[in-house]
Amino acid sequence: MTRQYDIAVIAGDGIGLEVVPAALRCLTLVAERHGFALNLTEYPWGSAYFRAHGAMLPTDGLDRLARHDAIFLGAVGDPEIPDVETLWGLLIPIRRTFDQYINLRPVRTLPGIPARVVGAEDLDLVIVRENVEGEYSAVGGRIYRGEPHEAAMQEAVFTRRGISRAARYAAELAAGRRGLLTSATKSNGIVHTMPFWDEVVAETMVDFPGVRLDKVLIDALAAKLVLDPGAFDVIVASNLFGDILSDLAGALAGSIGVAPSGNLNPEKRHPSMFEPVHGSAPDIAGLGVANPVGQLWAGAMMLDHLGEPAAAGELTAAFEACLADGLRTRDLGGAASTGEFTDGVAARLAAEPARA
Ligand code: NAD
Ligand code: IPM
Ligand code: MN
Repeated sequence: MTRQYDIAVIAGDGIGLEVVPAALRCLTLVAERHGFALNLTEYPWGSAYFRAHGAMLPTDGLDRLARHDAIFLGAVGDPEIPDVETLWGLLIPIRRTFDQYINLRPVRTLPGIPARVVGAEDLDLVIVRENVEGEYSAVGGRIYRGEPHEAAMQEAVFTRRGISRAARYAAELAAGRRGLLTSATKSNGIVHTMPFWDEVVAETMVDFPGVRLDKVLIDALAAKLVLDPGAFDVIVASNLFGDILSDLAGALAGSIGVAPSGNLNPEKRHPSMFEPVHGSAPDIAGLGVANPVGQLWAGAMMLDHLGEPAAAGELTAAFEACLADGLRTRDLGGAASTGEFTDGVAARLAAEPARA
């Protein structure tokens, strides 16, 4: 019997509805070529579902997702619905319910993309973002609503377990790459959680004598990323810092439209979720111009996670070859539509013999 993987597909909102079908077409092709099947179950959950039902997903939605081998997500977010309803109604509960505590975000310069800044041609880094705690916490509230003296409080939550498992994952990754780990901190201004972050990261490094740890304040780190992008290997960061650095690094590589992410439960006790770094991009939604590379690359990460590295490599090579040929969407200075780029990738996949 052929290898089978059950994939939950949530295209979501905005350009998610455009780039997910594009990526599924290529994923299905590459799966056929490598002799395995992706059993896709599409869930129409997102803002349209919210408008109809008052919730982002049905009450048994998370239980249904739990049965799949992986989740393939597009994007969530609608300009007319508060993000707190949409994101905290779908994306964040998935990350937390399935303990997807690592958000893995590789960024590298792809062929054929003109460099945005000097040195960006050497960009090849991975952001390991802590994905279930930190600054993204529901602890807090608002008081005196509507009064002139209204106030809001939000408590960041950093746990030894949360920091150390992110640091350990990042250090292991660095050990298999160039051996350099940069920890994003702000322990000069945020005086409780960030010194704790620094301590736990440093403790974890005791087990990784071959990895050099650089602790860099987040403000200086942002500048250094622009000035010397090739200097970074693996960056470990809290939920918020990792979020911001991901868009910055994606832009340095050419466009946030190319950046992928894996929300991982590394122990595979629960399904992991693969999605691009970008959002629903309401400014270009429906125009057919969205760059599908972030979604395609997220698809390749999913194949890798499922244990199909040859297929993952072939998919990555196919979109890279299209870029190298000069096929580019608008965000990269080209004129190709989402469909034309996807046709290019599909044609390339069909043209060459499958690589083992
Ligand atoms: P965004 O990432 O959607 O867009 C930022 C800019 O990048 C826009 O100009 C957009 O056109 C461009 N862009 C993004 N992806 C692109 C692509 N594939 N091709 C070409 N251009 C692309 O960020 P935003 O505008 O701040 O957020 C829009 C909505 O998406 C909000 O509701 C936000 O909360 C949500 N969001 C969701 C996710 C997610 O689902 N994981 C991630 C980020 C933002
Ligand atoms: C991302 C997004 C989300 C995040 C938002 C939409 C909550 O920006 O996945 O990068 O900050 O995690
Ligand atoms: Mn983000």
